[in-house]
Amino acid sequence: MYIALLLSFFPLSTLAITIPLSTSGASFIDATGTKFNYAGVNWPGHMGAMIPEGLQYQSIASIVQSIKKLNMNVVRFTYSTQMVDEAITGTVDAKSGVLKALGEKNGAPIWAKIVEKNRFPEGVTRLQIFDKVAEELGKAGILVHLDNHISKAMWCCGGNDGNAWFGDRDFDTERWIRGWKFMANHTKSWPTLASYGLRNELRSPDGNANLKSTYNWDVWTRHVKNAAQTVNRENPNAIIFLSGLGFDTDFSIVTNGKFKKEEWPTKKTALELHRYDDKKNNIKECSGFASSLDRSGWGAMKLESSKAMPVVMTEFGFAQDGKAFQTPYAQCLKTYFKQNKAGWIYWVLSGSYYDRSGKQDSDEEWGLLKHDWSDVRDNRTISDYIMKLSR
Ligand SMILES: *[C@@H]1O[C@H](CO)[C@@H](O)[C@H](O)[C@H]1NC(C)=O
Ligand SMILES: *[C@@H]1O[C@H](CO)[C@@H](O)[C@H](O)[C@H]1NC(C)=O
Repeated sequence: MYIALLLSFFPLSTLAITIPLSTSGASFIDATGTKFNYAGVNWPGHMGAMIPEGLQYQSIASIVQSIKKLNMNVVRFTYSTQMVDEAITGTVDAKSGVLKALGEKNGAPIWAKIVEKNRFPEGVTRLQIFDKVAEELGKAGILVHLDNHISKAMWCCGGNDGNAWFGDRDFDTERWIRGWKFMANHTKSWPTLASYGLRNELRSPDGNANLKSTYNWDVWTRHVKNAAQTVNRENPNAIIFLSGLGFDTDFSIVTNGKFKKEEWPTKKTALELHRYDDKKNNIKECSGFASSLDRSGWGAMKLESSKAMPVVMTEFGFAQDGKAFQTPYAQCLKTYFKQNKAGWIYWVLSGSYYDRSGKQDSDEEWGLLKHDWSDVRDNRTISDYIMKLSR
């Protein structure tokens, strides 16, 4: 009776998850051995200003409260390798990135708002702002999944954006590894740091004919394994997420049995996949969609326990317009997550961006939050969909 009463006030899903995490077959377990699912949202920090988005409108603490109200347990927090390269070579000042991204004239008043909302001290560095986000998420008991989203700090991703594949114009493989070494060390003291996503949406380097012949699973295995081992040495507690080919829609190497799980960090390796509603594969009903997800790599959760791995949908999303959540795409995903006890991380939290592809104060119609990050954008999508996703 007492316990039942307590649980009705504190549903299980909001109880704290204790780190470090491990994998067990297709599941994640926390430090107490309790199974749980990732349930969260992406918060971008990888774009041109090289600091987390939204801070000219709301303080970090109040954005974290908005996430908490959505009953989420994780934030996929994105960074660019460029931000780390500059930290290593000595350009650390957060203000400079904002002025560079927005120009002196537009950047100065935005920087003033960021400082005012967040009471940042003079000379605050980019990494100190990342640390502050991690600190507030930690206080709220929300896990941090740190994601290397792109090399050059900007909106992602295209086949010919120079960041598609190892060795692409702006994707220096050595710097990527160096950046991970730095970040894995730097973030191991974050209070709820749970996992790392090694590289977002690897894809065919369409702008780079010479490199295209190296776009295959062998090259993938060489580089991604090196990164996984590097990160695992720096911070052995964290789970490491691998991202597949084709903008992270393809993990056939796992479902076809060629992936050697035993060669990767033990009980610390998981997979992430993305899926958006693309017009080509117009989704009409759930069973065909579910089979296509299984074939694309989600079947990894259904292998025998010694081979099975957890998979998390670290990006999926749609317009927050009260309608898109009713499409077969959104509804079938909801069913799939529940049936497969699969984790999910919605794209995206942002109500707006400092700058997206040259457009300043760009509105994000897929954002869970309104343009000024003050409240949710569409109550109906939140109450009838986001809050009802399995946890
Ligand atoms: C690891 O991170 C800590 C905290 O940021 C820092 O003081 C230390 O110098 C770093 N070590 C290396 C080897 O980078
Ligand atoms: C959403 O609901 C809250 C209260 O539940 C209300 O304050 C807010 O104005 C609503 N927002 C929108 C966009 O309808």
